[in-house]
Amino acid sequence: MPGLVFYTNTYSMILYKTDEQVEQMRQSALLVSTTLAEVAKILRAGITTLSLDKMIGEFIRDHKAIPSFLNYHGYPFNSCLSVNDVVVHGFPNKSELKEGDIISVDVGVILNGWHGDHAYTFSIGDPGTAVRQLIRVTRESLYLGIEKAISGNRIGDISYAIQEHTEKKFGYGVVRELVGHGLGKNLHEDPQVPNFGKRGSGPKLKEGMTLAIEPMINLGKKDVFTEEDGWTVRTKDGKPSVHFEHDICVRKNKADILSDYSIIEKEECKNSNLYTLTASITAGN
Ligand code: MF3
Ligand code: CO
Repeated sequence: MPGLVFYTNTYSMILYKTDEQVEQMRQSALLVSTTLAEVAKILRAGITTLSLDKMIGEFIRDHKAIPSFLNYHGYPFNSCLSVNDVVVHGFPNKSELKEGDIISVDVGVILNGWHGDHAYTFSIGDPGTAVRQLIRVTRESLYLGIEKAISGNRIGDISYAIQEHTEKKFGYGVVRELVGHGLGKNLHEDPQVPNFGKRGSGPKLKEGMTLAIEPMINLGKKDVFTEEDGWTVRTKDGKPSVHFEHDICVRKNKADILSDYSIIEKEECKNSNLYTLTASITAGN
């Protein structure tokens, strides 16, 4: 029998990582980045998301890792592939992607016992000016959040930065039901990292905290619903939603970004079937 534990709503168990553990987590995060780069190579109109999911599973296993989403609380696929109005947790299926679709590719791995979990939103052809801006702004908000992930700040500083840039500045809908999270030997650890909140609120950030920060931003209203399958999250108004996710470690003056968008965006640029609006704003990561 375990000892008695008194849980309160503020109970939280944050697991800090040593430098050595952070290096192992970087390997896990980078395996996700290289998997997403493989996806960037083959994405085009006409491909099914189910075939992408198969490739993702094989690529991860070929690199001595395990696709961590598969069987997580019963999730039945290797990856989450969320098209247009699907916010997150989209099931891969047999329908073909078409020109103008956007797709969040969210991948998780366990490598040497450590989780990597990150995501990127691609455009199959030109999704139009409104969605192009949504993609750019969501990606920017992720980096603005990461800028706040330094020791001495609080979780709410990350949340506020993301909400300000997306909701306040552009009037986009910030999803409330789903949040970023701590990451480590478990896919979801404390603390939660909401994409909305007050400056100076929430748990204090300390060196060695490893977080998955993942803005989920809607072109229209913030409201979402979950489909009958128990997973697929869609916008209520049917408008598109964008999702970007990085794995980071809190440090003193600047967060250490463990995952790497430059690997993905190099392939995105080379693939003429993809609309690459991020090319001009990519600098090192
Ligand atoms: N990035 C997502 C998350 O952190 C992926 C989890 S999907 C699941 O929640 F299938 F594993 F649940
Ligand atoms: Co995540």
